[in-house]
Amino acid sequence: MVMHPDVQAKGQAEIDQLVGTDRLPTFEDRKFLPFVESIYREVGRLYPPLPLCISHASIGDDVYRDYIIPKGCIVIPNIWAMNRDPERYANPDAFRPERFLESPKGPFTSINDISAFGFGRRVCPGRYMADNTVWLTIASVLATLNLGKAKDEAGSEIEVSEEFTNAFFCHPKPYKCSIAPRSPSAKGLILAAEDA
Ligand code: HEM
Repeated sequence: MVMHPDVQAKGQAEIDQLVGTDRLPTFEDRKFLPFVESIYREVGRLYPPLPLCISHASIGDDVYRDYIIPKGCIVIPNIWAMNRDPERYANPDAFRPERFLESPKGPFTSINDISAFGFGRRVCPGRYMADNTVWLTIASVLATLNLGKAKDEAGSEIEVSEEFTNAFFCHPKPYKCSIAPRSPSAKGLILAAEDA
């Protein structure tokens, strides 16, 4: 959201219209928030936390294109590359949640369509918990906070490096940003949730 203030504003507007500003979003709201869903899906597409998944092994002999894959062969799924396949995602390196709104199936597809959670028998067993947690975090942050670039002592914006770690887990390298309540009532919602 720090890098894409337009996306943040659109997500906030969708929440404000459905939820208002007197309460936090809940899971009951989820299916009525297609743009927030699209943000969640786009983050998982562009920045899968486990970009090379976990090693799998084929359970039988197989053929993929011109390759013979014998039973027991170790296969490493490249989620990063799959999620940036230009045949599936136009302009794949762009962060554009709208692509999910524009797709014929829309953003509310099965959790099994989220490649970030892996595939087949070894698919992430924690995905339902993760899906709910990440979605609710995104929705709650959009509802209550403005994220933006931090400013230095001269009042100039500090640019974000956009660098990610390059290991088993992939996440942004530390960066400075500004986090502020959107309004006094948003601040009240945050404090009330903390007390609950
Ligand atoms: C956004 C959060 C998460 C992401 C992106 C994620 C992603 C993944 C991926 C890609 C795999 C490998 C799947 C495969 O080999 O096909 C995996 C495996 C696994 N995940 Fe997650 N995961 C997340 C959260 C969680 C949570 C919250 C739990 C537990 C509560 C969990 C437990 C596991 C376990 C136990 C495995 C190993 C499964 C196996 O090898 O049979 N994950 N996860």
